[in-house]
Amino acid sequence: MSLPQEWDIPPKLREAIMYSLEAGGKRLRPILVLTAAEAVAQEKKARKQALPVACAVEMIHTYSLIHDDLPAMDNDDYRRGKPTNHKVYGEAMAILAGDGLLTHAFYAVTWAAALGASAETTLAIVSDLAKLAGAPGMVGGQAADILGEQGVTSLEELEYIHLHKTSDLIVFSVLAGARIGGANRQQLDSLQQFARKLGLAFQIQDDILDLIGDEAKLGKPVQSDVEQQKVTYPYLIGMEESLALVERLTQEAKKALADAKLAMPDYLLAIADYLMRRDH
Ligand code: IPE
Ligand code: IPE
Ligand code: MG
Ligand code: MG
Ligand code: MG
Repeated sequence: MSLPQEWDIPPKLREAIMYSLEAGGKRLRPILVLTAAEAVAQEKKARKQALPVACAVEMIHTYSLIHDDLPAMDNDDYRRGKPTNHKVYGEAMAILAGDGLLTHAFYAVTWAAALGASAETTLAIVSDLAKLAGAPGMVGGQAADILGEQGVTSLEELEYIHLHKTSDLIVFSVLAGARIGGANRQQLDSLQQFARKLGLAFQIQDDILDLIGDEAKLGKPVQSDVEQQKVTYPYLIGMEESLALVERLTQEAKKALADAKLAMPDYLLAIADYLMRRDH
């Protein structure tokens, strides 16, 4: 699913792309794609068809992290326990590695059709990805994050930032898996609510861990938001309130999941519970 060996690609670019892709990470988004497919369809075939889409969303996510760490954005030196992409390959190659990953994700999605997903389902996934990863989605959230200012940005604006920079790729992951699993309209709507709340809780927890997390476990610097004077949930509403909100959003997410009446919701439920208590 990664870059085909026979493609003639400048070795440095290929290396820079693979460096970040193979650095690890939790692989939450691909896991959500696969788990959602299975939760809806209750059969292994759906998992196989979902695999290229799982790879695609990890490519988009990895590109977003490479660019997020650049000096012009969050200026971070560590990611996934290793020096950031631009620290190793330079800023120009890091930008291009991100561009390459973004583009290759769409190529990967087309493989779902080769594995038997219908053309209609594959097209719906491409359309979702373009929107949820693009300007009205993750990129828009990142832009709003950059424009945010302590003392100026409101709670409502912060919610917009988190819903887009983080929830949107999580919404994409759950919807894409569910589409491949054959979800109906009502199930897709409930799962969208599930993923939206789960994503918001996930980013608030990320903000919390920036303050009280352990750098060795996280594999990225703590206090980065403080240094960059970021507007975060702990900054705006305090630590206690933020912790309570993660808990409340997770409960709401689980309620939306129950509304979807899936054949096999247990693993999605377990993921929601796990994320609430994560330390990395
Ligand atoms: C980090 O995402 C960026 C956010 C959207 C919070 P993850 O915490 O999923 O990072 P990896 O993939 O495990 O490295
Ligand atoms: C990043 O949010 C979200 C995206 C990369 C889209 P953060 O800037 O909080 O992520 P970390 O903390 O660097 O992983
Ligand atoms: Mg950022
Ligand atoms: Mg960052
Ligand atoms: Mg963060």
